[in-house]
Amino acid sequence: MSAAALAIAPALRSAAAGTAIVVLGTGLVGGALLRLLDETAARRRPLRLVGVANTRHGLFDTAGIAPPLLERLDAAPRADLDAVAATLWATDARERIVIDATPAAVVAQRHARWLGQGLHVVTANKLAQGGRLPDWHELQRARGQSGAHYGDSATVGAGLPALASLRRLRRSGDRLVALDGVLSGSLSFLFNCYDGTQPFSALLQEARERGYTEPDPRADLSGADVARKLLILARTAGLELDESEVEVEGLVAAHLAQLDSAAFLGRLDELDDVIARRHDEAAAQGKVLRYLASLDTSGRARVGLRAVGRDHPCAALAGADNLFAFTTERYRERPLVVVGPGAGADVTAQGLLADALEIAG
Ligand SMILES: NC(=O)c1ccc[n+]([C@@H]2O[C@H](COP(=O)([O-])OP(=O)(O)OC[C@H]3O[C@@H](n4cnc5c(N)ncnc54)[C@H](OP(=O)(O)O)[C@@H]3O)[C@@H](O)[C@H]2O)c1
Repeated sequence: MSAAALAIAPALRSAAAGTAIVVLGTGLVGGALLRLLDETAARRRPLRLVGVANTRHGLFDTAGIAPPLLERLDAAPRADLDAVAATLWATDARERIVIDATPAAVVAQRHARWLGQGLHVVTANKLAQGGRLPDWHELQRARGQSGAHYGDSATVGAGLPALASLRRLRRSGDRLVALDGVLSGSLSFLFNCYDGTQPFSALLQEARERGYTEPDPRADLSGADVARKLLILARTAGLELDESEVEVEGLVAAHLAQLDSAAFLGRLDELDDVIARRHDEAAAQGKVLRYLASLDTSGRARVGLRAVGRDHPCAALAGADNLFAFTTERYRERPLVVVGPGAGADVTAQGLLADALEIAG
């Protein structure tokens, strides 16, 4: 074999092995990702789908799952999460990625273990990064130990480069001084559209139908989802805050918070009066309501409903836009602003795909 052929052979071998992925969750985001994967497969992207699972079914094949995927999945039995790592390790892939498109705590609890074993994790599920501080530390330890990647862009801002921008600033020696913004696509949509002419609950129903809200909209309305995103941002900026350090103003009264999901969805109209009153008070001062998140270097982190003047940057948002205003040592006079659609299955799935492709190289 010639020297040139010798040099090419290993490259060909590793290209053939490619990157194996398992997708967990086939709902709004997981379903959109599977469609995107289909399109990118047609364009010869190097991701081989070797597993897909939801709570009811799991389908695994180290050689790659052939279409029609969803019909085959529906005929498959329920799978254990242990099958995920077992299948990925049984492949000849160069890189192995678990993609978490579920809202499940049991799946998030596996992230550190998978990373520790050397599997890459790409996630839209915020529970591991935006939950308890010890869990976040365990994630960092596991990443450091194996060198595996944790693709988390879809956990904040859906497909927007929020975490990526913050990391770029930090890598170049800049330091976050303050962060302000609207971090929830669903709450953004609700308050951008609410003008008192229709009930808040009708808009909430519309946001659910558009796939903007979490599976249970109380995760948005309680402020818990925004608080998780703010924690992820704070920790990415080097402020290791605990959940208890975020001041949260929720929009769900205690008696509604106790209901099961179906019962709550039947009583959405009980939210209407409180929001109408807050809206009227703000309007009387020439202001609009926005659900804002803020963080400063002292570590003060707050999320809640605020009345802002019409000249506030968040007053001009539209649709399900998110806005992240990063004030840093170098962007001190005027903040660096990332703005754009921050919810929706397609843009979130695109964030997951971009992270996976970055790992695949
Ligand atoms: N929707 C958005 O715009 C958006 C934006 C950013 C981030 N996210 C995040 O993306 C994730 C998914 O959201 P979604 O809107 O796609 O939710 P969804 O439509 O309710 O889908 C959730 C999927 O996860 C599956 N699942 C739940 N627990 C599981 C488990 N233990 N093992 C395997 N699969 C499990 C469900 O299975 P079944 O089909 O059997 O029920 C379902 O297929 C969430 O973490 C959410 O916070 C969503």
